[in-house]
Amino acid sequence: MLTGKPILITGASSGIGLATAMACSRIGMPVALSARRKDRLDEAAARINQAGGQAIAIRCNVVSKEDCADAVKQTIDAFGSVYSVFANAGYGYEAPVATMDEAKLRDIFEVNFYGSLNIIWAAMPHLQHRKEGHILWCSSGLSKISLPNFAAYSATKAAQDHFGRAMRIELLGTGIHCSTVHPITTETEFSTGVEAVSGKSRGTLRTPRSARQSAETVADAIVKCLESPKGEVWTSFSARASLALATLCPGLADWVLARRHQNLIREVEQDG
Ligand SMILES: NC(=O)c1ccc[n+]([C@@H]2O[C@H](COP(=O)([O-])OP(=O)(O)OC[C@H]3O[C@@H](n4cnc5c(N)ncnc54)[C@H](OP(=O)(O)O)[C@@H]3O)[C@@H](O)[C@H]2O)c1
Repeated sequence: MLTGKPILITGASSGIGLATAMACSRIGMPVALSARRKDRLDEAAARINQAGGQAIAIRCNVVSKEDCADAVKQTIDAFGSVYSVFANAGYGYEAPVATMDEAKLRDIFEVNFYGSLNIIWAAMPHLQHRKEGHILWCSSGLSKISLPNFAAYSATKAAQDHFGRAMRIELLGTGIHCSTVHPITTETEFSTGVEAVSGKSRGTLRTPRSARQSAETVADAIVKCLESPKGEVWTSFSARASLALATLCPGLADWVLARRHQNLIREVEQDG
């Protein structure tokens, strides 16, 4: 029963974070929406409050430990406690390893990985004091395999996955759950963000429409996991099965990925 149990979400100004805020509010959870674009958060929080839910908007850059501590404090001040933290803020960077920009590599780790830790560390003392809670890391299907030109992003998602698993086991029996979320390609502002950071697309994120999911699909799976905690949240059985096969047969996985990579190079060249 999650009614009245507050959730703090990073990266809630768009995409998966925003959809999760809406879905959590529909089951009666007070929601603290955080991100950098405060205007968007204000608008979303107003929509939730007008619909009879409870929401606050908090400007928070996850790279800043001070912002993260303040986000937890504001959530507790508004709702009396924090039950769940969804470390969701993140972005992608597309570049080959050999010529990758080191500053961009370090920045994506600062946001996706250390940013997740910053908000989780800020909330942990409170959760441990209450002896209950649920930490969620927004990892990715790419935590289990790296795509060519997407090594930096995949590495941040693998780091989240590893920390999430270790933490889940460390916290067994404490009343605090820890789950990792592994979306496949999701229709959000993510690809626009990748181009803003990386320049002209190399096509890594091209996927047939049938292989894409909505942010609401991911949000619904997260709500189910909050209601009935489990370690990993997957929204595509075929993706999960393919990734398991890729781990079992790395040579086959390389062959498939290399063919896809060559096809993408041709397609991008043809598109000019
Ligand atoms: N879309 C996909 O295909 C996909 C697949 C697997 C996993 N994911 C993961 O899902 C998560 C959400 O991405 P999305 O697809 O929903 O993309 P999105 O619509 O671009 O959302 C990204 C969110 O992260 C926030 N953000 C970025 N940098 C931040 C920072 N330094 N501090 C605080 N917030 C920051 C953005 O808000 P502001 O700009 O307002 O700060 C935005 O709310 C990411 O962790 C991503 O890796 C996405």
